[in-house]
Amino acid sequence: MAHHSSSINSLVFPVVLGCLAALMLSSALIYLCLEAVDQSDEQLVNTYAGCPSQHFKLPTMKNCGPWLHCAQIKAEVRKIKLIGQGAVKKVYLADWRGHKVALSELASPEYRDDFLHGLSMLQALQDSLVVQLVGFCLEGDAIVTQHHPHGSLLNLKDVLAQQKYQHLDTWHIRLRLATDYVSILNYLHSSPAGRRVMCDSNSLEKTLSQFLLTNDFHLVVNDLDALPEVNPSGGALVKCGSRELTGQFVAPEQLWPLRGSGQPFSDDLMPPYDEKTDIWKIPDVTQFIMGRTTGGDLVHFHLFQIHKECKNVDPKLRPSALDVIKAYKSVYGTIVRENHRDML
Ligand SMILES: Nc1ncnc2c1ncn2[C@@H]1O[C@H](COP(=O)(O)OP(=O)(O)O)[C@@H](O)[C@H]1O
Ligand SMILES: [Mg+2]
Repeated sequence: MAHHSSSINSLVFPVVLGCLAALMLSSALIYLCLEAVDQSDEQLVNTYAGCPSQHFKLPTMKNCGPWLHCAQIKAEVRKIKLIGQGAVKKVYLADWRGHKVALSELASPEYRDDFLHGLSMLQALQDSLVVQLVGFCLEGDAIVTQHHPHGSLLNLKDVLAQQKYQHLDTWHIRLRLATDYVSILNYLHSSPAGRRVMCDSNSLEKTLSQFLLTNDFHLVVNDLDALPEVNPSGGALVKCGSRELTGQFVAPEQLWPLRGSGQPFSDDLMPPYDEKTDIWKIPDVTQFIMGRTTGGDLVHFHLFQIHKECKNVDPKLRPSALDVIKAYKSVYGTIVRENHRDML
């Protein structure tokens, strides 16, 4: 009998030890995994151009150079083809000394103020989350930025459908892109140029067209032409334009409150609002980014609560962009852990 129980012990002990070791190994792996996600964000900040202010460095350049000014832009930047056109800018793929760049020209003189506002914001907000400024020419109404071959976030589905990127079409990458998007909002809401509202976002398509997909599948914001400043302590609120906004994509406080009463829209009577309009739009943009990828349903399930809060009719009850980032990162960790447990 004693012999029997000791033989059971000698069998059970190694199994228990083995399980414990596997458990410790898997926890270490999860830790490393999460650490890698954080580090990739940090690395991006540290290595982003790494230039002094008013300088740039394209991925194809060895050293930083000062922003290009009119003479260089006129002499050295050659248009190759039109790659984008919004209301304010015509955007061309261009060549500067063998480097690919994007050249934006004012599309219509009536939008000159927006164009100049966008340029001043680009200068003030240079960061890893913002497209890199390469140069500008005020008298020529031209802005040169880093070119991102994948174009805007609108192209996400087509880019990930390409054979060479299919391995990146995962919920991990997509949730990371959604986190980038909310990180950009967070940056704008607490930026070096004050609390800025991403106003040029009255529809899903318009919003997606303001962000570019980088080669390493992150996002940068590209169009900063409509970023009015909210001053919470001074009570200064904003309005996104002077025309009536409609539809469900914009926040409820952006709609004409007297619609339905027969009183026509009047900009003077339209109440202003704050950056929480950006928070209202997050669930729709994230839904687009997540697409129909495998594992996406589980992500939506876990994001349900925070997205419900984003859609609060009362803007004050919506979370901040930072709260949303925290929720997204926590959901990422939870799903990685769940998947890992299922694998054991
Ligand atoms: N640096 C860039 N690299 C690649 N595509 C770009 C770049 N800048 C702009 N684009 C393309 O041009 C489009 C319009 O640019 P945007 O700055 O939003 O102009 P607008 O102010 O007229 O809306 C973008 O949606 C994108 O498709
Ligand atoms: Mg635009």
